[in-house]
Amino acid sequence: MAERIAEEKVNEIRQAVEIVDVIGDFVQLKKQGRNYFGLCPFHGENSPSFSVSPDKQIYHCFGCGAGGNVFSFLMEMEGLSFQEAALKLAERANIELQLDGPLTNKGPQLPEGSKQMIEAHDLLRKFYHHLLVNTKEGQDALEYLLNRGFTLESIERFQIGYALPSWDFVSKLLEKRGFSLALIEKAGLVIQREKDGTYFDRFRDRIMFPIVDHQGNTIAFSGRTLGGEEPKYLNSPETQIFNKSKVLYNFHLARPSIRKQQQAVLFEGFADVISANRAGVENGVATMGTSLTEEHISLLKRNVQAVTICYDSDKAGIEAAYRASNMLSKAGFTVKVALMPDGMDPDDFIKVHGEEKFKNDIIGSSATLMAFKLIYYRRGKNLQHEGDRLQYIEEVLKEISALDKAVEKDLYLRQVANEFSLSLEALVQQQNQLVQARNQKTQTPKGQAQPENKPVAFSRKAELKPAYHTAERRLISHMMRSADIAYKVQDMLQGNTLNIDEHQAIITYLFAYYEKGHDPDPSAFLNYLQDNKLKRVVADIEMMPLNEEISDQELSDYIKQVLNYQKMLKIKEKLAEQKQAERQSDFLRAASIAAEIISLRKTL
Ligand code: GTP
Ligand code: MN
Repeated sequence: MAERIAEEKVNEIRQAVEIVDVIGDFVQLKKQGRNYFGLCPFHGENSPSFSVSPDKQIYHCFGCGAGGNVFSFLMEMEGLSFQEAALKLAERANIELQLDGPLTNKGPQLPEGSKQMIEAHDLLRKFYHHLLVNTKEGQDALEYLLNRGFTLESIERFQIGYALPSWDFVSKLLEKRGFSLALIEKAGLVIQREKDGTYFDRFRDRIMFPIVDHQGNTIAFSGRTLGGEEPKYLNSPETQIFNKSKVLYNFHLARPSIRKQQQAVLFEGFADVISANRAGVENGVATMGTSLTEEHISLLKRNVQAVTICYDSDKAGIEAAYRASNMLSKAGFTVKVALMPDGMDPDDFIKVHGEEKFKNDIIGSSATLMAFKLIYYRRGKNLQHEGDRLQYIEEVLKEISALDKAVEKDLYLRQVANEFSLSLEALVQQQNQLVQARNQKTQTPKGQAQPENKPVAFSRKAELKPAYHTAERRLISHMMRSADIAYKVQDMLQGNTLNIDEHQAIITYLFAYYEKGHDPDPSAFLNYLQDNKLKRVVADIEMMPLNEEISDQELSDYIKQVLNYQKMLKIKEKLAEQKQAERQSDFLRAASIAAEIISLRKTL
């Protein structure tokens, strides 16, 4: 275990940082009433059930139950230990915090060896970069890049490098630095020969693009040939630290700009991201040579609501853009598509037409989703021919019928009517038929709820929890705010426990917390609790709206509800006993149990 940080220090840090800001770096938050809402970063969702309370300095997800304070957020989000999270927050708040011991308690999520794998990648990234920029061996590669329009600045920013045409550079270097070959092999950096078990470097004589995860760790490489060899790009294999379908190239660097601009630009290739960045488009990311996955989408969704797709404008690129645009719009994004002249990719375009033109005419004037679809369906058709024209109109009407907004529908229907000299009425009628057909198809089975888009916190029907459940939570909530009330409740319970085990555990800890001389402070109490499950319950309790003041009457009502439940259980038990006694014809016993039941009922 790493050393404990003094409690005063922890409190100082907690009070100096604003949880809304910290979480705001990861989740796009919107203020609604006193709290902020957003999409939970801990589970995939399309409607926000994640809330942050600036008053209480805690967060809670109604969907997955995640919850806690600013420390637990960073711990869960970045897989940090408490000490590491404290260090990060202290730095942020300009509070001096020195830990003497090593940070041994590395986050729980990192599987065995991942840390070393990342270290190996980080080390290699620096070497490759150095070889490219400063050595004679890297000169050809550097010239190739500069000829392609890369600048030294972007080579620096993206940490581009060069792998020597050597079979054992990596294995020798890393072995010398104390890495085991088996680990380096598992990290995908070297390959083991079948015949003699020796190792050779995976990347040789290639321009190296480091792939960085969302925390800034180098987790993989993609190497481009200088000449025409196949494959053009050689990627690291999937490893325990690298999962292609989760990583977006450049996401780490682009995130601040994505959040600031409320917009992300999605490219097909690294070269495009880098060129666009040169043109001032800093919010660009790219998939790793694969198509867009749901995991990519949920990563984007946590950060932004609008995405501009800027894929190559060849056949494959346009098909991929069509597919990605449908996925993104289904996930609730506002989608735009930036279109370039035939066959070009963003990198080519910038080379030919310049950076300004790219930023203004391509990204700045990207098409709305519907406008893109009109272009998409037009491809490969000759609209002079009636057959093609009818097919086109039908495809377009289908898309229009799927639009939500009447205004938009009207706009595009008019556009089609004008272009093909059709009667607007006929189009509207045909479109209405399509809407009907669609509704019949998508009608949900009886009793099944329609998906909803409102924040769950507001739209979700209050779950039907028994009265004692809520009563216990309200009691805990007040007990965390005042030690006096806590002790009062203890007296009123007359030695009984709360009905829900977790609630009982929480108040047991709470008394221990007060016994140690701590002042009431729910957020500090959260730190004090070690058990994650209990932390979540406390965060959930803290999120309930509450009157600060509580009268004795209210307190005793809650206590009554708690105790009544226990009495009800007792009565149930007695009723069963009574039945049994009657069955056994033991009427005397049955009568005495009945009397007990009556007196129990009286106390309810
Ligand atoms: P340049 O030719 O250097 O301009 O690259 P590009 O970004 O224009 O590449 P292209 O449009 O051909 O491909 C887009 C993306 O697909 C690249 O950034 C890679 O991620 C991926 N890709 C391209 N070729 C290969 C390949 O041969 N193997 C793999 N694994 N991925 C590739
Ligand atoms: Mn290209």
